[in-house]
Amino acid sequence: MKILAIDTSCDETAAAVTEGLKVLSNVMWSQASEHAKWGGVVPSVAQRAHSERIEWVVNTALKRARTTWEDVKVIAVTAGPGLGIALGVGIAKAKELALKHDKKLIKVNHVEGHALSAWATTSGSGNEKPLLPCLALVASGKHSEIILIERIGEYTVLAKTIDDAIGEALDKAARMLGLGYPGGALLEKMARKGNQKKYELPTPMLGQENRLEFSYSGLKTAMWRLVEQEKPLTPQKVADLGATFQNKALMHIEKILKKVLVTTQVKDLVIGGGVAANLELRKRLRKICRDNNMKLRLPYSMKLCGDNAAMIGVVAGFKAARGEFIMPEILDRLPRWKIDEVGE
Ligand code: KG4
Ligand code: ZN
Repeated sequence: MKILAIDTSCDETAAAVTEGLKVLSNVMWSQASEHAKWGGVVPSVAQRAHSERIEWVVNTALKRARTTWEDVKVIAVTAGPGLGIALGVGIAKAKELALKHDKKLIKVNHVEGHALSAWATTSGSGNEKPLLPCLALVASGKHSEIILIERIGEYTVLAKTIDDAIGEALDKAARMLGLGYPGGALLEKMARKGNQKKYELPTPMLGQENRLEFSYSGLKTAMWRLVEQEKPLTPQKVADLGATFQNKALMHIEKILKKVLVTTQVKDLVIGGGVAANLELRKRLRKICRDNNMKLRLPYSMKLCGDNAAMIGVVAGFKAARGEFIMPEILDRLPRWKIDEVGE
């Protein structure tokens, strides 16, 4: 059963065609350059850009998947969490298309999409599917969460952020260092040339890991002071400061994850979200998995880490099998929808 999936939750206009776990196409149009000069996503700019591009993205996803409307059985759309007016564009389009082509609708939680992105395959075989129960680390621009997946559709959030998400913190640090937006990947690149022990920065929530909370505000403030102190910046200083910040930001994730693993025994760790593309994070997670006799399961492509609609299609495939369709009249945006809520 082919699904057309749409995601407009933030600054990527995305559409995909999936069939079960198989990704037939995964198209996105990034607005990053339009938000760059503001150093963050501007809602009205995002809404306009989504509206202008959604048609092209949907048509291209169908074309690349060599799929006609006749073959599509369901339209899936991200209902939340995300930017309200941006979500609204995808939802309106999904409703319009469902009505026009007489298709069923499924609403999908964006964080569930990131959590299940490691299930997506190119072949659809599902041979390498993560073993349940497993843990999912969702690390993105808006979310830092460790989720226990007992069954698909049954989630318990074990750790979450109390202020910034890791991606947001990396973006802000990158901005302080004069790197571009979004800065996570640029910071990673700079950090490879730097010495992570050159400067002192605090490890977030040190000694309070039992609270199972992520917090980046203290680290961010300390970084701001340090950067001010080190000005004027040289390329080497930027590399060393970037490496120091990234090290502490990732160390925080490692510490919380290790705490979770004391009480939660699982065989697999899956990761998703933009920050899951970070090679240093992957290396550290691999070590934790080795030490705990676990396997690290990654999305098969970097294009499945950041925002995309293929992950929304994969989630919708599971929901379709459970008969979880929604009437267009009650489908609405849910900007604060949590993964462990039904979201009606
Ligand atoms: O999943 P995503 O595209 O959007 C949200 O749902 O938030 O994640 C975007 C975030 C940004 O903060 C970006 O800087 C970060 O992911 N990111 C990275 C890397 N690539 C993207 N952070 C660290 N290292 C990377 N290689
Ligand atoms: Zn996302």
